[in-house]
Amino acid sequence: MSKLSNSGAEPPKVKLVTEVWGPIKSLMAARRNILEIIPEVATKQPIVSGRTGSVRWHMVMEPHAIGRILKDNLENYPKSDVTKNILKPAIGDSLFIAEGAHWRWQRRAASPVFTHRNIANLAPIMSAAADNTCARIDAAGEIVDLYEEMVRTTFDVISNVTFSGSGAMDSAEVRHAIDRYIAQTARISLFDIIGVPTWVPRPSRLFQPNALKKMKTVADIAIANRKKHGAKAVPDLLDLLLEGQDPETKRRMNMAELRDNLLTFIVAGHETTALTLSWALYLCAFDPEVQDKLRDEAQSVLQGRTATAADCATLPYTDQVIKETLRLYPPAAFISRTAQGKDVLCDRDIQRKDTVMLPVYALHRHHAIWDNPDQFDPMRFANGHKPDRYSYLPFGDGPRICIGAQFAMIEATIILATLISRFRFERIEGRDPKPVMVLTLRPEGGVPLKVSRL
Ligand code: HEM
Repeated sequence: MSKLSNSGAEPPKVKLVTEVWGPIKSLMAARRNILEIIPEVATKQPIVSGRTGSVRWHMVMEPHAIGRILKDNLENYPKSDVTKNILKPAIGDSLFIAEGAHWRWQRRAASPVFTHRNIANLAPIMSAAADNTCARIDAAGEIVDLYEEMVRTTFDVISNVTFSGSGAMDSAEVRHAIDRYIAQTARISLFDIIGVPTWVPRPSRLFQPNALKKMKTVADIAIANRKKHGAKAVPDLLDLLLEGQDPETKRRMNMAELRDNLLTFIVAGHETTALTLSWALYLCAFDPEVQDKLRDEAQSVLQGRTATAADCATLPYTDQVIKETLRLYPPAAFISRTAQGKDVLCDRDIQRKDTVMLPVYALHRHHAIWDNPDQFDPMRFANGHKPDRYSYLPFGDGPRICIGAQFAMIEATIILATLISRFRFERIEGRDPKPVMVLTLRPEGGVPLKVSRL
């Protein structure tokens, strides 16, 4: 099924550990790039266990066991304590970190926000952001850092579907507050999330109280204004969240819950989508054959227009390229949980308080699951082919699956198809990005590409 893309060459990957490392060496590597502590065997074995300081951990790559963690025995595997402690000051006890009944009612109240119809109504904002990006690229020089551009593009989208037209606020001020807020959450390292002992020096301290306070104030003002003036003609994420109600308990979000969830959408949805697009554009430059095929599809469907939500169904190859990008470079490359009680995974005893990690990066390159796992080959997803359940997890799975997955896929499709129909992207020798895991899987060195208008 798989073709060997780009004459069998492989796009950049992380050099995984092949020897047994002591705790100090692992921690030093983790400081540089958390992906480097994934042992090479994690791409060949179902489970790898170890201990770092006093923390017992397991990396699980076997789909049935993953199904047990994410769905069948969900109650035993809440998000890790460290994840919660770190994110709580920024996003409160919102959808992303709440557990049990408090998570369930919020999920039910927020689900209608992300129906296909609501996303399609907001898609013109995505198309406009794609157009603005084209204008910026047009005005730029021959070499453009597409990572920087994509961060700006998805920032435009997320800020326009949350705070736009919020009355009294100066939009530059809102932009600045969101920017600082995101920069801070982005500084959280996976190092913190896995829960290595506190004596290990952290690369940076986390949130500055002032930036957090500012952001919360901005959100509070936006919510108060919207409540006062009513919804926009096309309801955006804020309006939809304001309308949200849990059909079972009839509970609605209070002011603080609305704000925390709105901020969660910004943190969870902005950089992840920018990364998907930057890696996709890099891969197109890496494999010109794929790029040509993608462009043929985009040009024949769009005929010079900007892509819209309605086009997504007729851009199957674009969808394949995005899915394959998410396989090779999953923005959330690690999912982490803390076991609440004893369990057995892949014949291994799990004890209370063990850290259970799903190294999505290793799962997506696992030799028992994928042919030529390190090769870029969008044909893996041809004809609607779906990988086996729990073997492909860019958006997680089970009840805690990403609520914004469809939003992100539509946004990425609109932006990628529009860009590729208008520009050619070429690699620059010696400037390939290196995948580095901070909180998300980022391209170190950005994604500088040579761009020409068609
Ligand atoms: C390509 C883009 C995206 C990727 C790769 C991504 C990835 C993920 C993953 C892996 C999870 C599960 C985490 C876990 O189980 O520990 C998740 C959850 C979540 N995501 Fe996304 N996400 C993306 C876009 C978005 C967008 C656009 C939004 C909102 C506008 C969003 C909002 C959320 C929320 C609220 C959760 C928590 C859901 C819950 O626990 O009920 N994400 N995301």
